[in-house]
Amino acid sequence: MEEKIKELRAALEADMAGVQNKDQLSAFWQKYLSKNGSVAGLTKNLRDVPKEDRPAVGKTINEFKTWAEGQYKALSEQVEQAALAARNEAETVDITLPAKRHHCGGLHPITLVKNEIIDVFAGMGFEIYEGPEIEDDDHNFTRLNVPKNHPARDMQDTFYVAEDIVLRTQTSGGQIRVMDREKPPIKVLVPGRVFRSDSDATHSPMFHQMEGLVVDKNITLCDLQGMLDKFVQALFGPEVKTRLRPSYFPFTEPSVEVDVSCFACGGKGCSLCKGTGWIEVLGAGVVHQNVLKNCGIDPQEYSGFAFGIGIERIAMLKYGINNIGLMFENDLRFLEQFKD
Ligand code: PHE
Repeated sequence: MEEKIKELRAALEADMAGVQNKDQLSAFWQKYLSKNGSVAGLTKNLRDVPKEDRPAVGKTINEFKTWAEGQYKALSEQVEQAALAARNEAETVDITLPAKRHHCGGLHPITLVKNEIIDVFAGMGFEIYEGPEIEDDDHNFTRLNVPKNHPARDMQDTFYVAEDIVLRTQTSGGQIRVMDREKPPIKVLVPGRVFRSDSDATHSPMFHQMEGLVVDKNITLCDLQGMLDKFVQALFGPEVKTRLRPSYFPFTEPSVEVDVSCFACGGKGCSLCKGTGWIEVLGAGVVHQNVLKNCGIDPQEYSGFAFGIGIERIAMLKYGINNIGLMFENDLRFLEQFKD
């Protein structure tokens, strides 16, 4: 038996040298330490040992078994370590390599300008209201003092969705919706998408407006101009001022076109202002008494002003964009120029 153990120990030691990976390790365990392995086989041979020698031989076998298990444990740790080292080697990170570039989005110029305008008016105490893009004829025209067959309907080329239902041509319908819900004092801003069948370098069939409405006691055209001065200065610089020119909108009386003194040349005349020193920026006026009446507000007690800003127009002026179409093509080379 002593001889057998010696042989087995030699074989085991020889095999150990060849164990490099997990498969070989498990084959080694199978061969020596499993239930049918050679070490367990020794115990089976105990039967052939004379009875009186059995305790001593049994002890020797047990010691050998413990030794063999110890060898296996050491071996498996060794294989584990080697596997880990190999993995670490394979997964080495070169921290000196340049990092991958992350592509990061930015806000669209229309959103930038819209946010900027909202910021200015929010600072003056305006609230924001958004009306529906599909609007009824009543809110888009009739109650804004543009009855059916009124020639002013031709001022805007309207997309009809159904009889009496339109894609709103202006955010002015928001005036009606707000005055129906709230009583003066009112100070509200209505931003949104509007639609007109019109398309050239400065007109797009879909564009954005921002309607402003103030209704209170003793509101006059002077209040409008004072507020618009503050607005254009916030947008174009502290040195600009406004000029009002008479105009016509059915829902305001008097109506005005508002010009800003040219922020590029200071009013001397340049290509941006086409030599005039002034640039048209928005339409406005004192809310027509009929519009107030249509919303149940007494024009003897209250008055108001309204203005409508074209957001694309402001963005084109501010950023020097010469074609409105660029803003809707989603060409990244264009859009990336507005990133912070
Ligand atoms: N709704 C007008 C337009 O789209 C602009 C405007 C708004 C004019 C409010 C006066 C008052 O042309």
